[in-house]
Amino acid sequence: MSNITMKIITSITVLSLIGFVLGAPTSNDEDDEKFLITKSMFPKEFIKYKAEHEIVNLLLPINSLNFDENESSESSSEESESELLLFFVEADVDSNGDRVDQGLYVLKEDKATKLLDHGRDAAASGDDSKLVFFGAKDGIYVYNKDNNSADKYGTVDDSIIAIAKEKTGDVIYILTENHEVFNVSNGGTTKEKLDDVVNAKEIVVDYSNNLYFYSDDKQAYVRSADGIKKIEGLPENPSSVKLIKPPFILEDGVPFIVDNVAYIIYANGTSEHSGIEFKPKAKPSAYAPEAAMIQYYAYDKNIYEYNVLTIILGTILDELKNYLNKNSEDIQSLSTKSRKYRQRA
Ligand SMILES: *[C@@H]1O[C@H](CO)[C@@H](O)[C@H](O)[C@H]1NC(C)=O
Ligand SMILES: *[C@@H]1O[C@H](CO)[C@@H](O)[C@H](O)[C@H]1NC(C)=O
Ligand SMILES: *[C@@H]1O[C@H](CO)[C@@H](O)[C@H](O)[C@H]1NC(C)=O
Ligand SMILES: *[C@@H]1O[C@H](CO)[C@@H](O)[C@H](O)[C@H]1NC(C)=O
Repeated sequence: MSNITMKIITSITVLSLIGFVLGAPTSNDEDDEKFLITKSMFPKEFIKYKAEHEIVNLLLPINSLNFDENESSESSSEESESELLLFFVEADVDSNGDRVDQGLYVLKEDKATKLLDHGRDAAASGDDSKLVFFGAKDGIYVYNKDNNSADKYGTVDDSIIAIAKEKTGDVIYILTENHEVFNVSNGGTTKEKLDDVVNAKEIVVDYSNNLYFYSDDKQAYVRSADGIKKIEGLPENPSSVKLIKPPFILEDGVPFIVDNVAYIIYANGTSEHSGIEFKPKAKPSAYAPEAAMIQYYAYDKNIYEYNVLTIILGTILDELKNYLNKNSEDIQSLSTKSRKYRQRA
C-alpha cells in the first residue's frame, strides 16, 4: 500500500478540509460561517509548478495510476506526493476571447512533459484501472505510462474540447468543438450522439455516471437515468459559471461555480451553497479536488498543492485551519462516506 493511500485511509479525521475545497457542503445551517477564498489562500510555499500560460484544466486521476492499493511503498512519506501524476492543459486567450492551445502536460516527479500540442482536457476512471484519456483537436488519446507519452485511442477524430469518463467500464463522453456530446465505447470505436444534450459548453460526469452540463443560458442541467433535469435553486443570470470534477466523497453531485459562489449540484436536480465563496480576483483557473486529501488548484499560471496534513500540522494557512476546526462536526459523516467509497472501489 502506498503512503498516499495509507494517508487517505488512516488520516480520515482531517477530511474536514474538504469543506474548503469545494468538495462537499459543510452543512445546511443558516448561521454556518461562509469561507471566503482570498489571494492569501495561494501562498508561494504551495506552488507545485509554474507554467508559462494560463492553466485551464487540471486532472488528478484517483484510479490505480495514482492510488494503487497493491503497490508497496518504497519511499519516505515526504517524497510520496511527488509520486502522484497530475495532468494539466495550458492555453492563451486571444483578443476574440477564443482559446489558443498551448499543450497538454503530465507532471511526474515534479517534471512537466508535454504530451499533446492540441490536447484540451483529460479524464480518468474512479476504479482500479490505470487509464487516463485525453480529448484533443483530432480525437481521443490514452496515456502511455511506460513511455510517458500519449497514444491515439480508437477511431474518433472529432475536435474535442472536453472529455469525461464513467467511474468504471470503458464509456467515455466527449464534447466537440461544435458543442455536441457523444458517448464513446468499445475501445473508442463506437460513437453515439446524445441528442438530449443540446449546445453544451462544458461537461462533467459524477461517480454515479450522471452527466452535468450547461448551455448559453449558463443554467446547469443533469442527464441521468430519468432524462434531462434543470438544476433548481441557482442564481438566474450569472455572468460566469464553471463545472468542476468532483472529489470522490461526492457520489451523485458535482461542484458548480456560479460567479463567485461554489454550489454543489445534485443528480436529483437540487443544489446547495457549498459554504465557499471567492474574492473576484482569487478564483482558480482550474480545479482538481478529486482526491480530497491532496488537492490541486491553478491560479495565475501556477499550480498549487493543498495537502491536508501539511495544512493541519503547519503554520502557513492559519485561517483555513481555524475554519476546519469550526467544521469538525462534519468530519464524521465525511469519513463514513469515504470508507464506503474505498470499500466499493
Ligand atoms: C491486488 O491484488 C489482489 C490479490 O493479489 C488481486 O486480486 C487484485 O486484482 C489486485 N488489484 C489490483 C488493483 O491490481
Ligand atoms: C515505447 O516506445 C518504444 C520506442 O518508440 C516502443 O518500441 C515501445 O513499444 C513503446 N512502449 C509502449 C508500452 O508503448
Ligand atoms: C450511448 O448513448 C446512446 C444514446 O443515448 C444510448 O442508446 C447508448 O446506450 C449509449 N451507450 C453507452 C455505451 O452508454
Ligand atoms: C437530492 O440529493 C441529495 C444528495 O443525494 C440529497 O441530500 C437531497 O436530500 C436530495 N433532495 C431531494 C429533494 O430528493
